[in-house]
Amino acid sequence: MLSNKVHSKLCSPKQATQLSRAVVPLLSTSPLGYPTAIRVGLVASTQQRHGSNTRSFSSTPVTHLRDFFPAKETEHIHRTLPAWPHHGYTEQEMLDVVPGHRKPETWGELAAWKFMRFCRWGMDTCTGMRKDQKVDKNNPTTAVATIAPLTESQWLIRFLFLESIAGVPGMVAGMLRHLRSLRRLKRDNGWIETLLEESYNERMHLLTFMKMCEPGWFMKIILIGAQGVYFNGLFLSYIISPKITHRFVGYLEEEAVHTYTMAIKQIEDGHLPKWADPDFVVPDIAVDYWKMPEGKRTMKDLILYIRADEACHRGVNHTLGNLNQNEDPNPFVSDYKEGREPPRPAVRPEGYERVDVM
Ligand SMILES: [Fe+2]
Ligand SMILES: [Fe+2]
Repeated sequence: MLSNKVHSKLCSPKQATQLSRAVVPLLSTSPLGYPTAIRVGLVASTQQRHGSNTRSFSSTPVTHLRDFFPAKETEHIHRTLPAWPHHGYTEQEMLDVVPGHRKPETWGELAAWKFMRFCRWGMDTCTGMRKDQKVDKNNPTTAVATIAPLTESQWLIRFLFLESIAGVPGMVAGMLRHLRSLRRLKRDNGWIETLLEESYNERMHLLTFMKMCEPGWFMKIILIGAQGVYFNGLFLSYIISPKITHRFVGYLEEEAVHTYTMAIKQIEDGHLPKWADPDFVVPDIAVDYWKMPEGKRTMKDLILYIRADEACHRGVNHTLGNLNQNEDPNPFVSDYKEGREPPRPAVRPEGYERVDVM
């Protein structure tokens, strides 16, 4: 079973991630029954950033989790900024995101959708989701009401699984298109950067959640195994049918939007008190990446940003799945004629049809 002991190894002041309140460990309620050990905390802020310990909360018990990726100290470097700065959202753009589903139209799309249903079942099981915590199975990516809420720990497990998987396809697709461009001596027309940026963005989601919890060895093994299978599967499927693979990723992103919408609803409904606590602040890595304004740094605010990112990925991948993979330019980085606005993927859950953007 899970250990709920605090980590005994304290970090140096600069590296320390000081956490308030240990959350009850996950697997006391999980059917897995393995020492999955995820230690979860309410975040985490360095004293260095604020020059004081004002974010060192008084709540008890105070725990210290190992910082998985402390900033590397060197003689001359002050800090390293994100290579792909986030473009930002207005509050309305984030609030306008809704769960959605694009209905499969071909046998290949149906197979991709059914496989995604299988992956969702696996994720629900790994999260230790009970029947009363699940949504209406007839509308699995749009229904958000449940009889019982998940706990903060269950949500974090789910976020970690989801994000560790979600960062793979953009890298595989970007890599394969990059190699094809080199091999065929042809332009790629803007797809590679969007795909690589998507995987970078997903990794930032993962790193953000990694600042809030500490997975144990069992979960790490699951993540390694899942990545091995997933990377190789995507590699083959992108070679065989990039269109179906983009559709599959669109379905994956539908799941991501759905998961984060459920989490936001449960925070709003008061079911996740540790995240609604006024003392709770999101990790500095998130504040820096999304440039979250002062006063808008709650867990709900953070999930609104992440959900908007997922909505973009959903719209982008469903759109790319509709295009000619060899010739069409990437509509999301293109200038349009006659001052026409470029497409906005976050507001199109089913993506744009080719005729709309070419
Ligand atoms: Fe993500
Ligand atoms: Fe995503």
